Amino acid sequence: LGACSPTGPRVACGWNGIDESTCRGMRCCYTPGPDSIGGIRFGLPTCYKANGGDGSYEVAGGALQKGDGPITGTGNLTLGTNGTMPFLGVDISPLGFQAESVDQGILRVKIGAPGRWEVPQNKLFTNTVRGSTDGSPLLELKYSASPFGFAVVRTDGRKGFPLFNTAGSRLVFKDQYIEISSAIPANATLYGLGENAPSTGLVLRRDGIPYALWTRDQAPNVPNVNDYGAHPFIMDVRPGGEAHGVLLMNSNGMDVVLTPTMMQFRTTGGILDLYFLAGPTPMAVLNQLTSIIGRPFMPPYWTLGLMQSKVGYMTIGYCDEVVTNYSRAHIPLETFITDGQYADGYMDFTLSDGYPLKDFRSFVDKLHAKGQRWAPIINPQIHIRPGYSAYDTGIAESVFIKDISGKPYVGQLWPGAVHFPDFWNDTTRRWWTNQLQAFHHELPFDGLWIDMNEASNFCTGDVCYDTGMAGPATDFICKMDCHKGPFAANGAPNVPPEGIFNPPYTINNNLTQVNITVKTIAPTARYLDGELEYNKHSLYGLSTVIATSNALNSMISKRPFILTRSTFLGSGAYAAHWTGNAFIGADICGFQNIATEELCARWAAAGAWQPFSRNHHSTGFQEFYLRPTIRSLAQKAFAWRLRALPYHYTAFFDAHAFGCSVMRPLFFSFPADSATSHIHLQWMLGDAIMVAPILDQGVVSSSAYLPSGVWYDLYNHTAIDASAGGLNTTVQASLADNPPVFVLGGNIVPLGPQGTNTTTALRAGNLTLLVAFPSASSPKFERCGQRCGSQNGYGNRVACGHMYLDQGDEMDVGTAQNNYLAFEAREVTHSGVGTQGSFVVYWPGPPGSAGTGGCTANVTWPTLDTVTVLGVGPVDLASVTIMDIGPQ
Ligand code: NOJ
Repeated sequence: LGACSPTGPRVACGWNGIDESTCRGMRCCYTPGPDSIGGIRFGLPTCYKANGGDGSYEVAGGALQKGDGPITGTGNLTLGTNGTMPFLGVDISPLGFQAESVDQGILRVKIGAPGRWEVPQNKLFTNTVRGSTDGSPLLELKYSASPFGFAVVRTDGRKGFPLFNTAGSRLVFKDQYIEISSAIPANATLYGLGENAPSTGLVLRRDGIPYALWTRDQAPNVPNVNDYGAHPFIMDVRPGGEAHGVLLMNSNGMDVVLTPTMMQFRTTGGILDLYFLAGPTPMAVLNQLTSIIGRPFMPPYWTLGLMQSKVGYMTIGYCDEVVTNYSRAHIPLETFITDGQYADGYMDFTLSDGYPLKDFRSFVDKLHAKGQRWAPIINPQIHIRPGYSAYDTGIAESVFIKDISGKPYVGQLWPGAVHFPDFWNDTTRRWWTNQLQAFHHELPFDGLWIDMNEASNFCTGDVCYDTGMAGPATDFICKMDCHKGPFAANGAPNVPPEGIFNPPYTINNNLTQVNITVKTIAPTARYLDGELEYNKHSLYGLSTVIATSNALNSMISKRPFILTRSTFLGSGAYAAHWTGNAFIGADICGFQNIATEELCARWAAAGAWQPFSRNHHSTGFQEFYLRPTIRSLAQKAFAWRLRALPYHYTAFFDAHAFGCSVMRPLFFSFPADSATSHIHLQWMLGDAIMVAPILDQGVVSSSAYLPSGVWYDLYNHTAIDASAGGLNTTVQASLADNPPVFVLGGNIVPLGPQGTNTTTALRAGNLTLLVAFPSASSPKFERCGQRCGSQNGYGNRVACGHMYLDQGDEMDVGTAQNNYLAFEAREVTHSGVGTQGSFVVYWPGPPGSAGTGGCTANVTWPTLDTVTVLGVGPVDLASVTIMDIGPQ
């Protein structure tokens, strides 16, 4: 009997519910334990095979080769002691090892063997930034040759825990089971591993129950289970606020196990391709991460307006009424999104009886005439129906993923039996572009929502829809054993593809170790290049948005808008999503149940301050205009959302240029303040704004944490000076009030005019600058890429900000150098908050004028209307000078 480790890989021994003595009699390990977390049952076997054996590798020849330049070390690892756990497969030896500084702040460590599946980064991550390797690397690799182990440490010689350290743990490398672990300090705070809603809130659980990464048709309404997306990335923040990142570039189904002392990756294929990101701030980590996987895309301006969608709008006439009702209620709806009911039997690119083309077209034209937009839902799955053009052409051009017999793979979705296009394939991409183009010709959509792309399948992988009975969407007839065989002649288990169909290690899929075939394509299916679904599964969603983004780029020559349900690392470079990207926001008022009038009103108010702002629901009705409390609060909240868009759009550009997020947990801005590390019910929106909404039924106030600094109420401009240290305060908002929103001293926030209804009208209006001064003792906070206070030294207090200006949807996104309009306000004579002072606000002149200090791009220049200065006491107007910024 090898060693038993309850936090090791538990491969079931015996049957479910086996008693302890029978289990031990079978020479297996027995660990009863809690069987639920956060009230949700999980399914780790109580009786499992011994898993604590100590196989080890050693460096061939005793030392890695030290390379020139950025290469830190290469070599081969050979098996020293034979690994245990033969039930998980044979240990692979030799392994290639390579460590490289790909950037000053990024160390990459690759362990693999020839011919193994690797995430094709050059195909997936195009919006990347090659960092500079100038300057000495911030991270260094240390290793021991026998047994092999390595550590990643900071080069500045700081003592303390290494960032990653495999010493004392084993390296396991088998065909379908790879394990690597690092010791981590108990006081580290870990974030990441999306898409998952940990019961611990913002931070990750450390209870040893594996997080599974495998994309699934699962909404994030069940804590701790793997949802639509897969993001094998962890941000590790150590006491004091120093942050680093650990990225495992691997798309196979995997478990990540976190305990108070250990971080362990267990993946079921591919290689170990680890990137260590030096930070040292959370925003620097994101900058490094997105330099590898692609910067968030720069959305068209109009997508920042309010959107409305719902399952069950059965006619285009009804959609028209919804749009009209929004305008009657004076709630500025920008975009209408049609859910699946517009399509005939849910078949892509077709129209149902309730949506005749002529009426649909005039609906879309009417929206466009009013400066509004339209986007439809599209599912990648194509219904099997001869005579249906997308199907016929798809078959003729051979665009679908194949089953083990080489025929197009059959699954089931809303329309009935479906095939799954292989979006990696060039022919498929051309075919997809043609489909979209023809549809766009009939109905000029402004964006697309790609749904069900995990890929969802209503039949579980070993089952398929009986094509002989292809019929209406209500047919849920799945046929057994379509995608399993063939087995070896003797029926022996664990020969391909059985080992692919039933991998020897079962990831903690759905927290209950359900088979990876459940509700998706069988892992034995093959893409057109021969690659297995087993390897590419979690990339399906990303492949759909890349193909769609390419199609839209070639079709409409404007910046595309895509909303995607399934994501992988890098999806944010192409598309928005409900949660987990730069462009995010949950379905306002909730998708499944009807929120109370009060909570829906609160949600509308809070949702107006999230990057992606969409009212979306399933069966009921919760449009904002339907109930009076919601209607009046939504009017106010979305009027404010519009006003704040010059600032909000700029935050998107900052994310696009520098890789930070738009909506940020407080610890991103204040990493050294440990009180912020768990806060998830307040957030920063960009550098300057903090939202602290009221989220409970029956209350008009709640407690909010203000990190160190001066915080101004956005609406009435009263200040709370927390410069001496963070403090808890009570925030209040009646049901008639906008949610509590603060502006952080040290910033200048550009605001648009009041009273507009669309983003187009907003952009044409005059500008207000809200100048929020810090106090003389306000501490530093983290900004996204932008430098501020460069001209400090003239006075004691400086506030600054900038505005990104462009035409709103041009293909070529501008640059910080050409498209920023930067402003700064400086104290001229010293004064504290609340006393009289004299200030200069610097406003750059338009391009070509004497004071070309900002934007040089060819854009419509905004007119500065009002400058509101906060933090200066009762100021004599004459003491505030607005000056052209002059040559820099
Ligand atoms: C599931 C999506 O996630 C949901 O938002 C959508 O409304 C339904 N599919 C129907 O299309």
